[in-house]
Amino acid sequence: MMKSIFAGALMGGLVLGQTNFTGDILHGYPVISALDIADVPANTISRYWISAAQAQGGLDYFVPVFVARGTNSSLTTGRKLSLSASIHGDELNGIPVVQRVFASINETVASGGLNGTIIGVPTMNPNGNIHNQPNFYTSSDNGYYNNLNRLMPGTSVEEGGDLADAYDFTIWNNLWGNTSNVDIAVDLHTLSIGSNGPFWAYADFALPGVQRLAELAQPDIIKIDSGEPGSVETTWVGHNVPAITLEIGPAKIWNRTLITRAENFIYRLMDDLYMDTTKAANRTDPVVVDLSATYKATNLTKLRAMHSGWIEMDLTPLQDVTEGEVIGNIYNSWGDVLEELTAPATGKVLTVNFDPAVEKGAGVLDIVYNATSTE
Ligand SMILES: *[C@@H]1O[C@H](CO)[C@@H](O)[C@H](O)[C@H]1NC(C)=O
Ligand SMILES: *[C@@H]1O[C@H](CO)[C@@H](O)[C@H](O)[C@H]1NC(C)=O
Ligand SMILES: *[C@@H]1O[C@H](CO)[C@@H](O)[C@H](O)[C@H]1NC(C)=O
Ligand SMILES: *[C@@H]1O[C@H](CO)[C@@H](O)[C@H](O)[C@H]1NC(C)=O
Ligand SMILES: *[C@@H]1O[C@H](CO)[C@@H](O)[C@H](O)[C@H]1NC(C)=O
Ligand SMILES: *[C@@H]1O[C@H](CO)[C@@H](O)[C@H](O)[C@H]1NC(C)=O
Ligand SMILES: *[C@@H]1O[C@H](CO)[C@@H](O)[C@H](O)[C@H]1NC(C)=O
Ligand SMILES: *[C@@H]1O[C@H](CO)[C@@H](O)[C@H](O)[C@H]1NC(C)=O
Ligand SMILES: *[C@@H]1O[C@H](CO)[C@@H](O)[C@H](O)[C@H]1NC(C)=O
Repeated sequence: MMKSIFAGALMGGLVLGQTNFTGDILHGYPVISALDIADVPANTISRYWISAAQAQGGLDYFVPVFVARGTNSSLTTGRKLSLSASIHGDELNGIPVVQRVFASINETVASGGLNGTIIGVPTMNPNGNIHNQPNFYTSSDNGYYNNLNRLMPGTSVEEGGDLADAYDFTIWNNLWGNTSNVDIAVDLHTLSIGSNGPFWAYADFALPGVQRLAELAQPDIIKIDSGEPGSVETTWVGHNVPAITLEIGPAKIWNRTLITRAENFIYRLMDDLYMDTTKAANRTDPVVVDLSATYKATNLTKLRAMHSGWIEMDLTPLQDVTEGEVIGNIYNSWGDVLEELTAPATGKVLTVNFDPAVEKGAGVLDIVYNATSTE
């Protein structure tokens, strides 16, 4: 019943090709219900709020949006880059990446040096930020958490979606214009709480442009795979928009080293796309990438705990391990060993849990490698 009450308010329907200003001003910036980059002023960084959905009781979930428009003519001739962060509410290192990029291009944009458009969403899921966890909380059916990064491109309420589906539907259609506002995309993530890992990209090399995008990031690891249905990355790729998921270390720790690496990647990407005309005029072609410290792998094997208890592992990200090598133990509350842990494959440590508390069935370690056969 709740759904039918809110259905009308949730979705205005799919009308592309028009920026709708609701007339509201929030914290000094206009509220929009739909974006068409053609309506955004040229040579300007604009700030908007878009209501992605409304909570029980009718309050809006406002999402902050930057739009950097370049020169008037570059609306059609320049590239349209999307930078999105923190669709998982506990994954924070992408937030300063988006903020820093927009602060740094401010003068370039104002002076007419930007060729194209950049849409930035520093905090895609403020609801998850509030709940201090990855997922989006909905109140229906006494409350549950939804992974917004598995529901893209969303479903409207009229078509049977719930609030989380409708949230993604609004972002996909009304902000990104169902690809009409975007032609290349980077979705910024970190690990989940309790796990350590490096700077790495998920990339589906099957779509032209994705490999280049991943290599420009110069990450520690490129995990080559066909993606996760419903994720931001895979939904872009499914719509022929080159995209990667970029993982910037552990959750809930500002790691300035890794944040700066991600920020510098965006500048290399902008150069590669000729988006900064002052730099583009002088640069060598193509932008040179250094992949000497980048490990590419097609396979990932997860080690799952077979017992609940207290886990201790002596591993760091990017360490090489050999299948069968002893890497730690799970103890019960008496200190007795419940399980001796061994590496499930020969390869490099991608992620490793540092949270000592473990439940059986949970993944505690990811190893990446290239399988020599498809067995
Ligand atoms: C935009 O505004 C028009 C006119 O008010 C309305 O018909 C349309 O549904 C709105 N579109 C969106 C996506 O809000
Ligand atoms: C901006 O470009 C559009 C076409 O892309 C053109 O109609 C318009 O006159 C231009 N505006 C200015 C101020 O040059
Ligand atoms: C603007 O970007 C487009 C697409 O990358 C490129 O073809 C064009 O040469 C760029 N324009 C300038 C002035 O750099
Ligand atoms: C960006 O540049 C504009 C115009 O030069 C200026 O008014 C504004 O204060 C700058 N904003 C930031 C955040 O630097
Ligand atoms: C987006 O556009 C495509 C056609 O380009 C259409 O098939 C699709 O239904 C639209 N909506 C979504 C949510 O992808
Ligand atoms: C940031 O990440 C790097 C690389 O993983 C690591 O060496 C460093 O200790 C981290 N810094 C913080 C503050 O966590
Ligand atoms: C481009 O190169 C010219 C000639 O060396 C130099 O005068 C100019 O400052 C350079 N521009 C930028 C943005 O580096
Ligand atoms: C793994 O396979 C990928 C794709 O074939 C290749 O690019 C990469 O170099 C391989 N990595 C290693 C470490 O052999
Ligand atoms: C390794 O990855 C490739 C490419 O995704 C896949 O075809 C193959 O089945 C995988 N092999 C193993 C042993 O998982």
